[in-house]
Amino acid sequence: MLVAGNWKMNLGHADAVGLAADVVQVTADATDAVGVAVCPPAVWLDAVAERLRDSGVRLGAQNVHPEESGAFTGEVSPPMLRDLGVHYVIVGHSERRQLFGETSAFAAEKVRSAQAAGLVPILCVGETLDEREAGDAEATVLDQLAASLDGVEAGDLVVAYEPVWAIGTGRTASPEQAQAMHAAIRGALADRFTGGDGIEILYGGSVKPGNAAELFAQPDLDGALVGGASLDAESFAAIVAAA
Ligand code: G3P
Repeated sequence: MLVAGNWKMNLGHADAVGLAADVVQVTADATDAVGVAVCPPAVWLDAVAERLRDSGVRLGAQNVHPEESGAFTGEVSPPMLRDLGVHYVIVGHSERRQLFGETSAFAAEKVRSAQAAGLVPILCVGETLDEREAGDAEATVLDQLAASLDGVEAGDLVVAYEPVWAIGTGRTASPEQAQAMHAAIRGALADRFTGGDGIEILYGGSVKPGNAAELFAQPDLDGALVGGASLDAESFAAIVAAA
């Protein structure tokens, strides 16, 4: 099981460092049994890395550029993240896809270069409400998954199923809806990679202390990618405890 907090574009320096210290403290008894990670804004990665040192909490980044270096103003490369002690990197989040026009082909480039640099990509896929209501949820997600893994060889990988309609809306996929999609993703990963059925599949979308346990009880849910609730150390710890 893995519980990762995506802090998105939130928190100033002092609050980010403070939250990292609190997360280390409140999850200290759990990190032997459950993987725990936090993904702060890029500007605070270094400061948060310092707070996580010698703890069981791993550091994740929210985004990465696929090139190693060069004229890409404003971007951060996989080796740079590696130098900071980053372990995970979120790739293909729906906010990047919707707000910044990132395609699955670009996500696949990021997955490949992140893996080459020794990072573990957390690849996000998910359907919109329109796609779900049209009965296209599974096809959409599996197409996104296949395209975002184009050219990817076996390697460390985590997949996060984040239905777009459940992100930041307070509306969570039911445990049955999540399980059905996770099983479909598991099947696709098993077809795609040798040992692919062992790839961790996280659920993301309004995960909270009150709904985490029933989601985690589903056989194909291997943890969560938590947004809003990860900004509060006690709520995040309660979700980790449920895992
Ligand atoms: O990446 C996590 C995410 O998009 C879910 O956000 O706020 O609905 O937990 P939230």
